[in-house]
Amino acid sequence: MPDEVVQWLRPESCRVLLDGTFGAGGHSIALAQRLPPGGRLLAVDRDPAAVAATTRRIEEDPESAGLPIEAFCGSYHRLERLLTAADETAVDGVVLDLGLSSDQLADRDRGFSFTGDGPLDLRFDPTSGQTAADFLAAASEFDIADAIYRYGEERYSRRIARAVVQRRQARQPVRTVAELVEICRRCVPRSKNHDIHPATRTFQALRITVNQELAILESALKVLPDHVRPGGRIAIISFHSLEDRLVKQAFRSDPRLQALTRKPLRPTDTEVDDNPRSRSAKMRVAEVVGDSPADRTPTPRRMGAKEAARYRDEEEE
Ligand SMILES: C[S@@+](CC[C@H](N)C(=O)[O-])C[C@H]1O[C@@H](n2cnc3c(N)ncnc32)[C@H](O)[C@@H]1O
Repeated sequence: MPDEVVQWLRPESCRVLLDGTFGAGGHSIALAQRLPPGGRLLAVDRDPAAVAATTRRIEEDPESAGLPIEAFCGSYHRLERLLTAADETAVDGVVLDLGLSSDQLADRDRGFSFTGDGPLDLRFDPTSGQTAADFLAAASEFDIADAIYRYGEERYSRRIARAVVQRRQARQPVRTVAELVEICRRCVPRSKNHDIHPATRTFQALRITVNQELAILESALKVLPDHVRPGGRIAIISFHSLEDRLVKQAFRSDPRLQALTRKPLRPTDTEVDDNPRSRSAKMRVAEVVGDSPADRTPTPRRMGAKEAARYRDEEEE
């Protein structure tokens, strides 16, 4: 929803903006093109491959080369570290476009798409943390079922967890996309109008689990208002009811924020035609009110420029 993001974040009147989910750079480019002279667009993504590829693509494309975009590798909830690395104390607006990118979905080695085969990884950052296969190999049957039910709202979660553990007991743990898809096909009856693949909910649940997506979003919602200047806006696009609920509650109940969207904004029909994956997107926007601590307590400036360039979020989530 790049048009809506630009409209609500008003980049023309901002000096520093943060794109917390850089991905293929669509939002970063749209915002950076409209910043006033001297403006900065700080972009962050957990996926080192996305940061490298998108940075290269932006530099090589004459339309975007030279835009004031500075990309960092890390998680958006580590905002204070990012600001320190960028030598800033606060930003004038933030966009988070949650979930996974089309590039990640297309990469067979990442395990996000269940239409092909490949290792069952599902991490946004393949250099750290537990893969989905590791989780299925180590977690208890109860914990597997709980994750699939809680984050995928899959009614047949217990059957799936049982089948996963049976494979483990037969010394054939689930390691690949195709192996998990086969289990889902066996355990989940086809939906009435065949509109949803039997593995959709399970893959979503495992992705949310291994990337700790909800815990990270919750943590970000707590810290973001402290690092956005009063009058600055936070726009969050979510694709899942659990994420949207967290955003809605935080925007309504946090005294540092005023919700600007009573109901979530939805993509236009044209955008859904162009990008069918956007059909479940919901965008909410809030404005930071009053005397934000970002104005009162400067973020300590500890890193030098060289160190900042090497900035890498290596801490455990
Ligand atoms: C839907 S895509 C963003 C697409 C982007 N807005 C664009 O226009 O191309 C989501 C991106 O967020 C990244 N991501 C997911 N969780 C993250 C986190 N905690 N911190 C930073 N990036 C994250 C993913 O790696 C992915 O590249």
